[in-house]
Amino acid sequence: IDLRIFPTIDGVGSAVADEIQELIQVRDNVVLGLATGSSPLATYRELRRRFTDGTVSLERARGFLLDEYVGLPRGHRETYRAVIERELGNRVGFGVNAIAGPDVWAPDLADACERYEEQIATAGGIDLQILGIGSNGHIGFNEPGSDFASRTRVSRLTDQTRADNARFFGDDIAAVPTHCVTQGLGTIGEARRIVLIATGHSKSHAVARLLTDPATPDLPASALLNHPSVTLFADAAAVATVA
Ligand code: F6R
Repeated sequence: IDLRIFPTIDGVGSAVADEIQELIQVRDNVVLGLATGSSPLATYRELRRRFTDGTVSLERARGFLLDEYVGLPRGHRETYRAVIERELGNRVGFGVNAIAGPDVWAPDLADACERYEEQIATAGGIDLQILGIGSNGHIGFNEPGSDFASRTRVSRLTDQTRADNARFFGDDIAAVPTHCVTQGLGTIGEARRIVLIATGHSKSHAVARLLTDPATPDLPASALLNHPSVTLFADAAAVATVA
């Protein structure tokens, strides 16, 4: 894994925004894979800033959500669909139907997962996937133990992940959904380019393992060690414990 370290979260955000900007400058119909959570927020903020000042527009790009909670009502402000529409959407120039997510409101979720895989394939696959890393080393909601070949599926969130995400639900763990649909590790690994973002001390343990240990399903992010084009964008705090 290629590692780039920046002093601050904003430094990470501009560097990742640079990479997205360069990609859309050289290619039309770019397909982005979009993570939610805190990690990409500085990047998304920087993209909004560049859209506002006219340097970047995602009007010819498409986006696919990395994952989505199961059990929230459609339109709930913490659905990842709502978060991405709020953080990006028309604020960076995405068209009305340019962002797709798994249909977690479908009666048959297994079927919805398959259809999502087909949608991604029909779009030509993902050019650049933006990822965060969980404190337990998850990517997407592929929790420890996930198969490296896994596809888009329903996954159960660990207690750790639900506790980590309670801040988005008024610090009420009980309000955090128990399940989600996530792109699988095999699905994520098919993206042509992967940008993994890790910021803050809470990620330093997972990052240290990723950079030193061999690939193991105990650390789902280590599935990326087999990928030909991954860069870890980290702030100083996230690499503080790396020897
Ligand atoms: C979000 C996602 C998760 C987060 C991870 C880190 O779509 O799939 O894997 O990237 O939990 O979360 P933050 O960035 O909030 O620390």
